[in-house]
Amino acid sequence: MEFTNIEKIFLGKDGKVRIHGWLHNKRSSGGIVFVFLRDGTGIIQCAVKKDKVGEKNFDDVEKSPLESVIEVEGEVRKDPRSPGGFEVTASSAKVETKADEDYPIGKKEHGPDFLLDNRQFYLRTERMVKILTLRSKFMEIVRDWFKENGFKEFDTPMFTTAAVEGGSTLFPVKYFDQKAYLVQSWQLYAEAGIASLGKIFVIAPSFRAEKSRTRRHLTEYWHLEVEEPWCDFEGLLKTEEQLVTYLLHRLAKEEPEILKYFGRDPEFLLKINPPFERITHEKAVDILKKEGVKIKQGQDITYELEKILTQKFDKPFFLTHFPKEIKAFYHMPDPKNTDVTLSVDLLGPEGYGELTGGGQRIHDYKQLMKRIKEQKLNPKDYSWYLDLRRFGTVPHSGFGLGIERLITWILKLDHIRDAIPFPRLINRVYP
Ligand code: 4AD
Repeated sequence: MEFTNIEKIFLGKDGKVRIHGWLHNKRSSGGIVFVFLRDGTGIIQCAVKKDKVGEKNFDDVEKSPLESVIEVEGEVRKDPRSPGGFEVTASSAKVETKADEDYPIGKKEHGPDFLLDNRQFYLRTERMVKILTLRSKFMEIVRDWFKENGFKEFDTPMFTTAAVEGGSTLFPVKYFDQKAYLVQSWQLYAEAGIASLGKIFVIAPSFRAEKSRTRRHLTEYWHLEVEEPWCDFEGLLKTEEQLVTYLLHRLAKEEPEILKYFGRDPEFLLKINPPFERITHEKAVDILKKEGVKIKQGQDITYELEKILTQKFDKPFFLTHFPKEIKAFYHMPDPKNTDVTLSVDLLGPEGYGELTGGGQRIHDYKQLMKRIKEQKLNPKDYSWYLDLRRFGTVPHSGFGLGIERLITWILKLDHIRDAIPFPRLINRVYP
């Protein structure tokens, strides 16, 4: 008999089944042991009785430590008392592999460092299974959106020679006898890609040598990036709104139980619709001043200040028109006021802050060269990139979305580290 995935039982498979899984939990009473098996598709309760499976098998199962692998054949029964409403009544049960006794993750509370040290096992907890299931669904949904909207996937190098987002967060690597860096963003290559493939996207790691210990910074994170030719600032905001709305609505419809488990009401996500509210950087500074924050116009809104600002909102909103001085060289100055740029971040409400960053790019050669020089960068490092403006330049825009940032907000997590299987943080590259 072939093995059945546990989720199939919850989806209606009945009758006789053969399943196997890791022993997630167990409970004995007299001649019966209830085992909870987890196979990556679900967790189900199985009732194993001594008189049905024989004394030897019963003893083996009863004595198995957590995370042993157990195989059960039996009949599916509706049982309102068991989690999920179904139980398998075993006609046979055997231990496939017996785990050691000292499984490190127990029922007692563990501190975050202990759980990070034992990340390989922490991934098996109900909490992490749920987060990672949602993450997998997230990836599936955004790919669907790109497909439905005519975007092609464009992959670029992880080794690079120049900064995209400022030199302070570059990770240097020895590249034979040359110096290289881990890439901070796909963007510069994407601006070459649009003349080859048109509307493009990527889902890939980006690297930032973030020296700050915060709840929202990883040193390696997954970056969803988009670049579109013949797309101006307005077009960019539309693309962002549509993608994010499509994602939130589908998550609400397809994973409502996971959302509820983390305290996020699916109905709330369904109520988020374009157009998203927009406020300029100037207005945001005014709001902060009113809150008693000491900040001047033109100054950066730091992580701490974003927390204050976003408490005032209950839906994601756009923060636009950042001052030129605090933005990367490639941002197009606003023709109506060249002190500010056609740049935009999408901010998560409830204290979460920045989820995406992007804007319209400078497509004029001279203007771009001027900004590179003003920012004291070396034009030679960007020579291939500057050349793109000499051969068929077009207005274009794009953005980058921090996948873990968005998941952290969607699931109301209190730290970004759980939105990724093996987080890389300032003090952690192991396991
Ligand atoms: O705002 P950023 O730096 O923008 C760029 O890299 C652009 N070149 C993207 C583009 O236009 N194609 O980063 C984009 C997003 C941020 O809004 C944030 O969500 C995420 O990447 N991000 C991080 N996520 C986790 N840990 C970090 N250290 C992050 N740094 C940025």
